[in-house]
Amino acid sequence: MADIEVARTGRVQTIRFNRVNKKNAITRAMYQTMADALTEADANAQIGVSVLLGQPDVFTSGNDLVDFMAVATGAEHGGEVGEYLKAIATGSKPLIAAVDGLAVGVGCTTLLHCDLVYASPRAWMQTPFVDLGLVPEAASSLLAPRLMGHQWAFELLVLGERFDAERAARAGLVNELIRPDHLESHALAVADRLADKPPEALAISRQLLRGNRQEIVARLHEESEHFSQRLKSEEARNAFMTFMQKKAK
Ligand code: COA
Repeated sequence: MADIEVARTGRVQTIRFNRVNKKNAITRAMYQTMADALTEADANAQIGVSVLLGQPDVFTSGNDLVDFMAVATGAEHGGEVGEYLKAIATGSKPLIAAVDGLAVGVGCTTLLHCDLVYASPRAWMQTPFVDLGLVPEAASSLLAPRLMGHQWAFELLVLGERFDAERAARAGLVNELIRPDHLESHALAVADRLADKPPEALAISRQLLRGNRQEIVARLHEESEHFSQRLKSEEARNAFMTFMQKKAK
Protein backbone atom coordinates (compact mmCIF):
# COMPACT_ATOMS: atom_id res chain seq x y z
CA MET A 1 0.00 0.00 0.00
CA ALA A 2 1.20 3.49 -0.82
CA ASP A 3 2.03 5.84 2.05
CA ILE A 4 -0.38 8.33 0.50
CA GLU A 5 -3.49 6.93 -1.12
CA VAL A 6 -5.13 9.14 -3.71
CA ALA A 7 -8.59 8.15 -4.89
CA ARG A 8 -11.60 9.69 -6.52
CA THR A 9 -15.33 9.18 -6.08
CA GLY A 10 -17.45 11.32 -8.35
CA ARG A 11 -16.06 14.85 -8.20
CA VAL A 12 -14.33 14.38 -4.84
CA GLN A 13 -10.64 13.51 -4.60
CA THR A 14 -9.42 11.97 -1.35
CA ILE A 15 -5.80 12.14 -0.21
CA ARG A 16 -5.21 9.74 2.66
CA PHE A 17 -2.17 9.38 4.93
CA ASN A 18 -1.34 5.70 5.12
CA ARG A 19 1.88 5.22 7.05
CA VAL A 20 0.32 4.39 10.32
CA ASN A 21 3.29 2.46 11.79
CA LYS A 22 5.15 5.81 11.76
CA LYS A 23 2.10 7.78 12.89
CA ASN A 24 1.71 8.96 9.29
CA ALA A 25 4.97 10.96 9.46
CA ILE A 26 5.37 12.66 6.08
CA THR A 27 8.39 11.78 3.95
CA ARG A 28 9.64 13.70 0.93
CA ALA A 29 7.96 11.21 -1.41
CA MET A 30 4.65 11.66 0.43
CA TYR A 31 4.84 15.45 0.06
CA GLN A 32 5.44 14.99 -3.66
CA THR A 33 2.43 12.67 -4.04
CA MET A 34 0.21 15.15 -2.22
CA ALA A 35 1.53 18.10 -4.24
CA ASP A 36 0.89 16.18 -7.47
CA ALA A 37 -2.65 15.26 -6.40
CA LEU A 38 -3.48 18.87 -5.54
CA THR A 39 -1.97 20.12 -8.80
CA GLU A 40 -4.04 17.54 -10.67
CA ALA A 41 -7.17 18.73 -8.84
CA ASP A 42 -6.52 22.27 -10.03
CA ALA A 43 -6.02 21.18 -13.63
CA ASN A 44 -8.83 18.63 -13.84
CA ALA A 45 -12.37 19.94 -14.31
CA GLN A 46 -13.72 16.55 -13.14
CA ILE A 47 -12.37 17.19 -9.63
CA GLY A 48 -14.39 19.66 -7.59
CA VAL A 49 -13.02 19.25 -4.07
CA SER A 50 -10.10 17.50 -2.32
CA VAL A 51 -10.37 15.94 1.14
CA LEU A 52 -7.42 15.13 3.41
CA LEU A 53 -7.95 11.98 5.49
CA GLY A 54 -5.88 10.01 7.99
CA GLN A 55 -6.28 6.74 9.85
CA PRO A 56 -8.24 5.99 13.02
CA ASP A 57 -6.80 8.18 15.79
CA VAL A 58 -3.85 9.32 13.61
CA PHE A 59 -4.08 12.20 11.18
CA THR A 60 -0.33 12.80 10.91
CA SER A 61 2.68 13.38 13.16
CA GLY A 62 4.04 15.93 10.66
CA ASN A 63 7.33 15.97 8.84
CA ASP A 64 9.38 12.80 9.14
CA LEU A 65 12.04 13.63 11.74
CA VAL A 66 14.46 11.20 10.11
CA ASP A 67 14.30 13.40 6.99
CA PHE A 68 14.84 16.50 9.16
CA MET A 69 17.83 14.82 10.77
CA ALA A 70 19.28 14.05 7.33
CA VAL A 71 19.12 17.73 6.38
CA ALA A 72 20.54 18.71 9.78
CA THR A 73 23.56 16.57 9.01
CA GLY A 74 24.16 17.83 5.48
CA ALA A 75 21.65 16.26 3.05
CA GLU A 76 19.87 18.41 0.46
CA HIS A 77 16.50 19.73 1.66
CA GLY A 78 14.72 18.84 -1.60
CA GLY A 79 11.84 20.77 -3.14
CA GLU A 80 8.96 18.45 -2.26
CA VAL A 81 7.84 20.20 0.92
CA GLY A 82 7.91 23.55 -0.87
CA GLU A 83 5.80 22.17 -3.71
CA TYR A 84 3.26 20.80 -1.27
CA LEU A 85 3.07 24.06 0.70
CA LYS A 86 2.67 26.09 -2.50
CA ALA A 87 -0.08 23.72 -3.64
CA ILE A 88 -2.12 24.10 -0.44
CA ALA A 89 -1.50 27.87 -0.35
CA THR A 90 -2.40 28.63 -3.95
CA GLY A 91 -4.73 25.81 -5.01
CA SER A 92 -7.96 26.92 -6.65
CA LYS A 93 -10.27 24.11 -5.48
CA PRO A 94 -11.77 23.74 -2.00
CA LEU A 95 -9.79 21.66 0.48
CA ILE A 96 -11.45 19.86 3.40
CA ALA A 97 -9.77 17.95 6.25
CA ALA A 98 -11.16 15.24 8.53
CA VAL A 99 -8.89 14.99 11.56
CA ASP A 100 -9.08 12.06 13.96
CA GLY A 101 -6.36 11.79 16.60
CA LEU A 102 -3.02 13.53 16.39
CA ALA A 103 -2.23 16.36 13.99
CA VAL A 104 1.32 17.53 14.67
CA GLY A 105 3.54 20.12 12.94
CA VAL A 106 2.58 20.50 9.30
CA GLY A 107 -0.37 18.20 10.05
CA CYS A 108 -1.74 21.07 12.10
CA THR A 109 -0.57 24.04 10.00
CA THR A 110 -2.04 22.46 6.85
CA LEU A 111 -5.45 22.97 8.47
CA LEU A 112 -4.98 26.74 8.18
CA HIS A 113 -5.16 26.30 4.39
CA CYS A 114 -8.33 24.21 4.46
CA ASP A 115 -11.74 25.68 3.78
CA LEU A 116 -13.52 23.31 6.13
CA VAL A 117 -12.03 21.27 8.98
CA TYR A 118 -13.90 18.53 10.82
CA ALA A 119 -12.34 16.80 13.80
CA SER A 120 -13.24 14.07 16.21
CA PRO A 121 -13.47 14.96 19.91
CA ARG A 122 -10.30 12.89 20.49
CA ALA A 123 -8.30 14.88 17.90
CA TRP A 124 -5.45 17.06 19.12
CA MET A 125 -3.14 19.55 17.44
CA GLN A 126 0.40 20.51 18.34
CA THR A 127 3.23 22.41 16.68
CA PRO A 128 6.42 21.80 18.68
CA PHE A 129 8.50 23.98 16.33
CA VAL A 130 10.39 25.98 18.93
CA ASP A 131 11.10 22.91 21.09
CA LEU A 132 12.67 21.36 17.98
CA GLY A 133 14.84 24.46 17.46
CA LEU A 134 12.67 25.40 14.47
CA VAL A 135 10.22 28.15 13.54
CA PRO A 136 6.59 28.07 12.36
CA GLU A 137 6.05 27.08 8.71
CA ALA A 138 3.33 26.79 6.06
CA ALA A 139 2.62 30.54 6.46
CA SER A 140 1.17 29.70 9.87
CA SER A 141 2.92 32.75 11.35
CA LEU A 142 0.63 34.86 9.16
CA LEU A 143 -2.54 32.76 8.99
CA ALA A 144 -2.87 31.63 12.61
CA PRO A 145 -2.83 35.12 14.20
CA ARG A 146 -5.27 36.23 11.51
CA LEU A 147 -7.63 33.37 12.28
CA MET A 148 -7.44 33.19 16.06
CA GLY A 149 -5.69 36.35 17.26
CA HIS A 150 -2.14 36.78 18.53
CA GLN A 151 -2.44 35.12 21.94
CA TRP A 152 -4.07 31.91 20.75
CA ALA A 153 -1.64 31.74 17.81
CA PHE A 154 1.33 32.32 20.10
CA GLU A 155 0.14 29.55 22.39
CA LEU A 156 -0.28 27.16 19.47
CA LEU A 157 2.82 28.02 17.45
CA VAL A 158 5.37 29.18 20.01
CA LEU A 159 4.42 27.68 23.37
CA GLY A 160 3.74 24.60 21.28
CA GLU A 161 1.62 22.61 23.71
CA ARG A 162 -1.31 20.44 22.72
CA PHE A 163 -4.63 21.94 21.69
CA ASP A 164 -7.43 19.47 22.18
CA ALA A 165 -10.19 19.39 19.59
CA GLU A 166 -12.57 21.45 21.66
CA ARG A 167 -10.02 24.28 22.07
CA ALA A 168 -9.09 24.06 18.40
CA ALA A 169 -12.76 24.55 17.57
CA ARG A 170 -12.99 27.51 19.94
CA ALA A 171 -9.90 28.99 18.28
CA GLY A 172 -11.62 28.75 14.90
CA LEU A 173 -9.33 26.08 13.46
CA VAL A 174 -12.08 23.43 13.41
CA ASN A 175 -15.62 23.90 12.08
CA GLU A 176 -17.31 21.10 13.95
CA LEU A 177 -16.58 18.12 16.15
CA ILE A 178 -17.92 14.85 14.77
CA ARG A 179 -17.66 11.47 16.52
CA PRO A 180 -14.90 9.32 15.02
CA ASP A 181 -17.16 6.73 13.38
CA HIS A 182 -19.08 9.47 11.52
CA LEU A 183 -16.19 11.81 10.81
CA GLU A 184 -15.19 10.69 7.33
CA SER A 185 -18.70 10.13 6.05
CA HIS A 186 -19.62 13.61 7.28
CA ALA A 187 -16.61 15.27 5.60
CA LEU A 188 -17.22 13.35 2.37
CA ALA A 189 -20.93 14.23 2.33
CA VAL A 190 -20.08 17.92 2.72
CA ALA A 191 -17.43 17.55 -0.01
CA ASP A 192 -20.07 16.04 -2.32
CA ARG A 193 -22.45 18.92 -1.71
CA LEU A 194 -19.67 21.44 -2.34
CA ALA A 195 -18.49 19.67 -5.48
CA ASP A 196 -22.03 19.79 -6.88
CA LYS A 197 -22.20 23.58 -6.72
CA PRO A 198 -21.77 25.64 -9.91
CA PRO A 199 -17.96 25.50 -10.35
CA GLU A 200 -17.40 29.06 -11.58
CA ALA A 201 -19.43 30.67 -8.80
CA LEU A 202 -17.71 28.39 -6.29
CA ALA A 203 -14.22 29.28 -7.56
CA ILE A 204 -14.87 33.04 -7.54
CA SER A 205 -16.47 32.92 -4.10
CA ARG A 206 -13.57 30.97 -2.66
CA GLN A 207 -11.07 33.35 -4.21
CA LEU A 208 -12.92 36.34 -2.73
CA LEU A 209 -12.82 34.80 0.74
CA ARG A 210 -9.18 33.74 0.56
CA GLY A 211 -7.95 37.09 -0.76
CA ASN A 212 -4.45 37.88 -1.94
CA ARG A 213 -2.26 34.79 -2.00
CA GLN A 214 0.91 36.73 -2.81
CA GLU A 215 1.19 37.74 0.81
CA ILE A 216 0.88 34.11 1.86
CA VAL A 217 3.46 32.93 -0.67
CA ALA A 218 5.84 35.70 0.46
CA ARG A 219 5.44 34.53 4.06
CA LEU A 220 6.05 30.92 3.01
CA HIS A 221 9.38 32.03 1.54
CA GLU A 222 10.32 34.14 4.54
CA GLU A 223 9.58 31.31 6.97
CA SER A 224 11.31 28.79 4.74
CA GLU A 225 14.59 30.76 4.77
CA HIS A 226 14.60 30.72 8.56
CA PHE A 227 13.43 27.13 8.67
CA SER A 228 16.23 25.89 6.39
CA GLN A 229 18.83 27.63 8.51
CA ARG A 230 17.29 26.40 11.74
CA LEU A 231 17.32 22.80 10.48
CA LYS A 232 21.11 22.97 10.47
CA SER A 233 21.35 24.63 13.88
CA GLU A 234 22.77 22.97 16.96
CA GLU A 235 19.41 23.45 18.73
CA ALA A 236 17.62 21.47 16.04
CA ARG A 237 20.29 18.77 15.79
CA ASN A 238 20.12 18.20 19.53
CA ALA A 239 16.31 17.97 19.46
CA PHE A 240 16.33 15.46 16.57
CA MET A 241 19.03 13.44 18.33
CA THR A 242 16.89 13.29 21.47
CA PHE A 243 13.96 11.93 19.42
CA MET A 244 16.20 9.31 17.74
CA GLN A 245 17.69 8.27 21.08
CA LYS A 246 14.21 7.81 22.58
CA LYS A 247 13.39 5.56 19.61
CA ALA A 248 16.53 3.52 20.18
CA LYS A 249 15.67 2.78 23.84
N1 COA B 1 8.99 11.37 12.16
C1 COA B 1 9.52 10.13 12.11
N2 COA B 1 9.04 9.09 12.81
C2 COA B 1 7.97 9.32 13.60
C3 COA B 1 7.38 10.58 13.70
C4 COA B 1 7.92 11.64 12.94
N3 COA B 1 7.39 12.87 12.92
N4 COA B 1 6.34 10.50 14.57
C5 COA B 1 6.30 9.23 14.99
N5 COA B 1 7.29 8.51 14.40
C6 COA B 1 7.57 7.09 14.57
C7 COA B 1 8.25 6.79 15.89
O1 COA B 1 9.63 7.00 15.80
C8 COA B 1 7.89 5.35 16.09
O2 COA B 1 8.70 4.57 15.22
P1 COA B 1 9.29 3.15 15.73
O3 COA B 1 8.09 2.31 16.07
O4 COA B 1 10.06 2.64 14.55
O5 COA B 1 10.13 3.47 16.93
C9 COA B 1 6.47 5.27 15.52
O6 COA B 1 6.34 6.37 14.64
C10 COA B 1 5.40 5.40 16.59
O7 COA B 1 5.62 6.60 17.29
P2 COA B 1 5.63 6.70 18.88
O8 COA B 1 6.46 7.89 19.28
O9 COA B 1 6.01 5.38 19.48
O10 COA B 1 4.07 6.97 19.15
P3 COA B 1 3.42 7.73 20.39
O11 COA B 1 1.96 7.51 20.27
O12 COA B 1 4.09 7.35 21.67
O13 COA B 1 3.72 9.28 20.13
C11 COA B 1 3.85 11.30 18.83
C12 COA B 1 3.20 9.92 18.99
C13 COA B 1 3.35 11.89 17.55
C14 COA B 1 3.45 12.19 20.02
C15 COA B 1 5.40 11.14 18.82
O14 COA B 1 5.73 10.09 17.91
C16 COA B 1 6.11 12.37 18.38
O15 COA B 1 6.26 13.30 19.14
N6 COA B 1 6.56 12.40 17.10
C17 COA B 1 7.29 13.52 16.59
C18 COA B 1 6.34 14.61 16.13
C19 COA B 1 7.09 15.80 15.58
O16 COA B 1 7.87 16.40 16.27
N7 COA B 1 6.82 16.13 14.30
C20 COA B 1 7.50 17.20 13.62
C21 COA B 1 6.87 18.49 13.94
S1 COA B 1 7.66 19.86 13.11
